[in-house]
Amino acid sequence: MANPIKVIGIGPGSPDYLLPAAVTAVAQCQVLVGSPRAMALFDIQDKEIHSLNGNLEAALQFLRNRDRSKTVGVLVSGDPGFYSLLSYLRRNLEEELEVIPGLSSLQVAFARLGLPWQDACLLSLHGRPLATLLPYLEERKPMGLLIDSRMKAGELAKLMGAYGSFRVHICRNLTYPEETIRTLTPEQLAEESNLGNAVVVIIPDD
Ligand SMILES: C[S@@+](CC[C@H](N)C(=O)[O-])C[C@H]1O[C@@H](n2cnc3c(N)ncnc32)[C@H](O)[C@@H]1O
Repeated sequence: MANPIKVIGIGPGSPDYLLPAAVTAVAQCQVLVGSPRAMALFDIQDKEIHSLNGNLEAALQFLRNRDRSKTVGVLVSGDPGFYSLLSYLRRNLEEELEVIPGLSSLQVAFARLGLPWQDACLLSLHGRPLATLLPYLEERKPMGLLIDSRMKAGELAKLMGAYGSFRVHICRNLTYPEETIRTLTPEQLAEESNLGNAVVVIIPDD
């Protein structure tokens, strides 16, 4: 039987937040699929590398046509079960996948803020409109958001304005030496231009 593809969570980026189980899983792979940022965490000298450059179709073709005698690992950021390539692979590959969990960027963000995340709504704004947040703003729920480079801070601030007062935490480059955590009012958020590689935690004021 072919080796199952391993979908390996690498955590938010620093080796300190990489699970030993992920290091072991990568060591067992002959072939790795992932971004250069993900590869940089591992010793890949003896591996066959397929770089992930955002072209999901190409990655899928590569996996479908792979040499099934070799163990293949797909490296994904954070936890595979939270808005990663795992959903796409499950929809498109009719075969077993072995999932190695990782720490999600949102877990680290809530930890940095010293806040529990059990009651928070955890969402992704990748390719989704800001209006996705409306029901949660209306209910004044704590929120943890994955954002992409198209996120307009000013529009988010404007949207929040209609639902009372909130604090907004911008958690950028988590676990990297250049990590920053900033707490802003919606008015201050409106002045931001590019939030970068960040998650946003929104907490309603009491
Ligand atoms: C495709 S999603 C993957 C989420 C991932 N599966 C997880 O559990 O964190 C990528 C988004 O995760 C967030 N992210 C990933 N690594 C991060 C980091 N080191 N610092 C801040 N945000 C990060 C950003 O919002 C980024 O746009």
